[in-house]
Amino acid sequence: MINKTIKINFKTGAFNDLNLEEKMLVERAKSSINSAYAPYSGFLVGASVLLENGKIICGSNQENVAFPSGLCAERVAIFSAGSSYPNQNIKTIAVSARSKSFDIDDFISPCGACRQAMSEYEEKQKKDIKIILHSPNDKILIADRVSDLLPFVFVSNDLKRF
Ligand code: THU
Repeated sequence: MINKTIKINFKTGAFNDLNLEEKMLVERAKSSINSAYAPYSGFLVGASVLLENGKIICGSNQENVAFPSGLCAERVAIFSAGSSYPNQNIKTIAVSARSKSFDIDDFISPCGACRQAMSEYEEKQKKDIKIILHSPNDKILIADRVSDLLPFVFVSNDLKRF
């Protein structure tokens, strides 16, 4: 067996290090937290998607008493963007979160299913999607492409036989 290593790239910093467009997008993710429906976890997540035409589409987590029937904020936002603007590329996605019961002092990381869903759009549009993760105390993590958050992603070629 051979040991191998994958390198991923990301940046960390603070809200004030962002440019104006990024700050606005993070603000929209933060305000989307207010529409989260999370009576079971008390964990409120907001996501905002910036399209190439400048539109921003937002989403928040929507829970269900049958737990798997709920959906994360990121997928609510990107599916909404995909269905309302099917021909618009996604430039950037921002995510922010707050808990009803404890202070979050680090950014939360999108779950595997959301990363897979983001990756689908990156593959579809053949252009990288930037991801900005924001914590309530204004820490920021930026990945310039979804593949940095999801090495070994499942892609459409994996469905084909060569
Ligand atoms: N959640 C999100 O909306 N996005 C994430 O990135 C992580 C988790 C939601 C799902 C569920 O409603 C709650 O947070 C607790 O897992």
